[in-house]
This record gives sequence, structure tokens and C-alpha cells, in this order.
Amino acid sequence: MKDVVRQNFDASVDAYTTYERRTNRFTSLARLLAAEMDARTDGGLGTVLDAGAGTGVSTRVFTETTADTIALDISREMLSEIESTARLQADFDHLPLSDQSVDGVAFTASLFLVPDPATAVREAARVLRSGGVVGAVAPLGWFDSDGTDAFEQFERESRSPTDTPAIRDALAAEFSATTGTWKFSTSAENIRLFHAIPAMAARLYPKLETEKRVRQARELLGALDGTFEQRWRWVVGVPE
Ligand SMILES: C[S@@+](CC[C@H](N)C(=O)[O-])C[C@H]1O[C@@H](n2cnc3c(N)ncnc32)[C@H](O)[C@@H]1O
Repeated sequence: MKDVVRQNFDASVDAYTTYERRTNRFTSLARLLAAEMDARTDGGLGTVLDAGAGTGVSTRVFTETTADTIALDISREMLSEIESTARLQADFDHLPLSDQSVDGVAFTASLFLVPDPATAVREAARVLRSGGVVGAVAPLGWFDSDGTDAFEQFERESRSPTDTPAIRDALAAEFSATTGTWKFSTSAENIRLFHAIPAMAARLYPKLETEKRVRQARELLGALDGTFEQRWRWVVGVPE
């Protein structure tokens, strides 16, 4: 499973960059998450582990607000886009960091990609110093003006490996957690662009190979029209 996720993101650098240039979505999510984490930390965010840093979108945001940001990702290709900070190619389940060595662990749109978020959350708890803070953002989907899931018309879901309630539960098991929802207005074209990222097209067609999966997603979403609300769940936790 993790090898598949890594390969999917290794193949996603260009499409991910195109999507982010057009929407700024991951930048917005990282900014909002950084603010929620900063508000709950005891003593400031001196060192933050950007867990699932990807091409460095969230890394840039955390670098603006913290002294040190460590960019960690399982995908070498995504990580190779980052030049400005310490980089670690590693898995959330085995963080190559000492106990209590960071002030914050931020999973910006990344924790929903692991099959077992509880293991990753335990590792985050291990590396956090006391008074530190963990944050995660995970997708809730796209909805039309009636609140109907945009994918219902296709009789299918755009599904993450782990659903968002499981992420909230994993964090709440280890931390005192606060949660909320962020909503963004978006277009059908942006939903198509999101699913043009091979790793995101895998939400619709996990079993197809890369090019076929992206082509099929484009065909499925071709008729989608109008404006939608994209919802993301955030969860921020502090040690109990
Ligand atoms: C949607 S991207 C988000 C990237 C970045 N945080 C941003 O805001 O643009 C998710 C990233 O999580 C990484 N990832 C997924 N599973 C992982 C794991 N088990 N360990 C480390 N990184 C992982 C992927 O390789 C991908 O780069």
C-alpha cells in the first residue's frame, strides 16, 4: 500500500504543481493549520516537522512562521522539489527523529494517505516535546449548492485510503483534540485538475495504471459543471 502511494506521488510532481499554481489550495490549508497550531502551542513553534511535505507547499508556509522546518516525505520525487530546508525521505510510521525533539508535527493533507493513522499518530506523539502540538487536515469532499456530494451523480465516491473520521479518532486517542471544518468555493474545472494528479485520480480508480487512471477520471468528470464547495476537516491536538 505505501509503495503504491509513494509511486503515485513520484508520478505526480508536475500535475500537483499545476493544480497548486491555479488554486493555491494547499497553501491556504497550510496557513490555516499553522495558525490553529500556533494558537495552541505552549512556548511557540520553534521546530516543526512538515509530515508529508510533498513539493514543499506546506514547508514554505511553516518556514514563514517557524525558526526551523523539517520536510519529510515518502516520495523522493516530490521531496526533490524542495531546496530550502532540511529534507528527510521517510515513512510517518518510522520517523528518523529523537524523542521529544520538535515543537510541532503538521500533516497538511497527508495523514489520510496511510492505511493505519494510529501508528503515525503514535510516532508524532513520540517526537513531540511536552507543550508541543500536532495538526492534520483531511478532505471531506465536494458538495453542490444543495449539499449533495458532487460525485453522487456518478454513483461513486472520490475516496481516500483512510476516511476522515478515522483520522480524527486516531488523533483524539493520543491527544486532547479540537476539530473544525474549512470550506472553499471551487469550480468543476478545479475538481478535474485535482483528479488530473495521478495520486488523486487513484481516489477514483485505485486499480488502474497511472495514465489510464488519469484519462478515465478526465472522462468521468468531463460533464461536471458549475460551482462547488470543497470541505476539509482540521484536527489539532496537544498532549493530555
Ligand atoms: C497531498 S500531498 C501534500 C503535500 C504538502 N503537505 C502540501 O501541502 O502540498 C501528501 C504527501 O504525503 C506524502 N505521504 C503519503 N504517505 C506518506 C507516508 N506514509 N510517509 C511519508 N509521507 C507520506 C505523499 O508522498 C505526498 O507528498
